[in-house]
Amino acid sequence: PHDTFVLRNGYEIPCIGFGTWKMPDGQEAIDAINVALDAGYRHFDTAAAYENEESVGKALRRSGIDRSELFVTSKLWASDRGYDSALKAFDSSLKKLGLEYLDLYLVHWPAAKGADEVWQKENADTWRALEKLYNDGYIRAIGVSNFKPHHLEPLMKVSEIDPMVNQVEMHPGFPQTETKKFCDLSGILVEAWSPLGQGRVLDDDRLLEIAVNYGVTVAQLCIRWCLQNNAVPLPKSMTPERIRENADVFGFDISADDMRKINELEQFGMSGLDPDEVDF
Ligand code: A2P
Repeated sequence: PHDTFVLRNGYEIPCIGFGTWKMPDGQEAIDAINVALDAGYRHFDTAAAYENEESVGKALRRSGIDRSELFVTSKLWASDRGYDSALKAFDSSLKKLGLEYLDLYLVHWPAAKGADEVWQKENADTWRALEKLYNDGYIRAIGVSNFKPHHLEPLMKVSEIDPMVNQVEMHPGFPQTETKKFCDLSGILVEAWSPLGQGRVLDDDRLLEIAVNYGVTVAQLCIRWCLQNNAVPLPKSMTPERIRENADVFGFDISADDMRKINELEQFGMSGLDPDEVDF
C-alpha cells in the first residue's frame, strides 16, 4: 500500500490511484484491478460515465481486502446534476459498485455552458446533495473534477462544505498552473487524470533525457512529478507490466532543478477536453 495525502477533513487518501477511464466493463477490467491490487494500489478511480462500476466493484469485493483498506472514488455525470437527480445518481453508483459507502464522490464536469446563473445554480443544487450524502455518512470526502477557478469560486460562495478534491487533466507540459495554485491556496487536493498525457508525453526527448538520469522510465518520471507537486496521479493501464511500473516510483527523488525544468516545459499534449469547451 502507498503513502497517503491527508484531505482537509483529516481523511487519508492513498497517494496514487488506479485510473479506470476507458476500461470496458468485464473480465479485462477485473484482471487489471487484480494486478493493481497485487502491485499495492489501494485507491481506485471510476465514474458513472466510464460504465465499468460493476466490474470495479466486483474485483474489489472479491479481493478479500478489507473495505477500510480501500479507497474508492466515483463521479456524477453532467446529465445527473440537480439535487434529486444527484441523490439518485449516487445511489445507482453505490449499487453498481456493491458498496456501502464511497471514499470520494466528485461532480464530473462543471458543465458551464450557457448562462452563468443556470450552470452555477445547477452546480450549487448538485453540491447540496453531495453535502447531504457526506453529512449522512455515505461519502467520506466530496469534491469536483475539471473545475477551473472560475467554476470553483461561485460554488464556494454558496457551499457549506468546500470541495476537498479537484481532479483535473495534469501532466508534464500541461501543469494546470492557475488551477493548481487556486486549489493549493484553498486547501483542495488536486488529482491528476491522464498523468501520462494518455501516453502522448512518453516519447518527449526532454523528459526522456531527465528520466534516463534517474534510471527510470518517462512514465515513472511523470507520476513522480505529480507526487512531488502534491498532486495524486491516477495512471491508467491494462498492461500488467506497466501497472507495476507505474506504482514503482518511490525509489528516487526528482531534484528541485529538474522539477523546475519539467514544470516549465512548454505546453503540449492536452487531451482536447477543455472544461470551457466540452458540451456536457
Ligand atoms: P495500456 O492501457 O495499453 O497499458 P493516462 O493514464 O495518461 O491516460 O495514459 C494511459 C495510456 O498510457 C494508456 O494507453 C496506457 O496503455 C498507456 N500507458 C500506461 N502506463 C504506461 C507505461 N508505463 N508505459 C507506456 N505506456 C503506458
